[in-house]
Amino acid sequence: MEDLVRRLTPEARITVLTGAGVSAASGVPTFRGKDGLWKNFRPEALATAEAFGRDPSLVWEWYAWRRFRIATCEPNAAHLVLADWSVRFPNFRLITQNVDGLHERAGTQNIIRLHGSIWEVACWQGCGKSPKRWRDDTVTFKQMPPRCPYCGGLIRPGVVWFGETLETNIVSQAMNAMKCDVFMTIGTSAVVYPAAGFIEQARANGAYTVEINPEATPATRSVDLPLSGGAETILPTIAASL
Ligand code: OAD
Repeated sequence: MEDLVRRLTPEARITVLTGAGVSAASGVPTFRGKDGLWKNFRPEALATAEAFGRDPSLVWEWYAWRRFRIATCEPNAAHLVLADWSVRFPNFRLITQNVDGLHERAGTQNIIRLHGSIWEVACWQGCGKSPKRWRDDTVTFKQMPPRCPYCGGLIRPGVVWFGETLETNIVSQAMNAMKCDVFMTIGTSAVVYPAAGFIEQARANGAYTVEINPEATPATRSVDLPLSGGAETILPTIAASL
């Protein structure tokens, strides 16, 4: 770990990619693994535009359940360390696949949100009267499925579903963040693209690569420093050594 600590200087360009595992200690379920959401739910039935078109009530019930669950969770020590780094290091960038908003609640600056936010919604029809996306913190919707306040049609969760393309400006911000000195992949199973390819991209740009995860992933063998354990314990340990 000393090698990593030596590299975390004020001048260093530090990029962190997070996934569901960073929120596990907060009580937010991950997608894969022993207790992962995809053990009991099928992504194609709940997290695609086709699924929403087929059965918007079912999809909204799932998202409403996740909103309810996340609303009771608090940022953990891992979120807090990353929030501190986002202020302390001038060249720090955080890319997250998480939609739970816990990095934001911890105070992290300049987050690149790859998969959108569960706390945002958009008009399903793209009615033109509404903004492209807007924040809606409702935990219990009065009407299910909830309606667009601008046109009365359906609204959809402001997340990126399987099969949907990421916004070009988000991808270009992420690509820009790959030009870094230290790249840390934290709490992600490293199987969903494009995020799964970021580590190779960062390495190709000369970054020192680190993984924090209690389980082995496809990235574990290729990183310079694999750290096995929970982000909520390993990140505070690194932070204490700085
Ligand atoms: P996954 O659920 O695939 O992976 C979570 C990872 O976190 C696993 O590798 C766990 O071993 C690890 N983990 C568990 N507890 C941890 C802890 N305390 N500290 C650190 N790591 C821990 O979640 P993602 O990789 O984020 O996309 O999944 C990527 C995308 O697939 C998600 O954004 C979502 C999902 O399906 C969409 O819904 C489009």
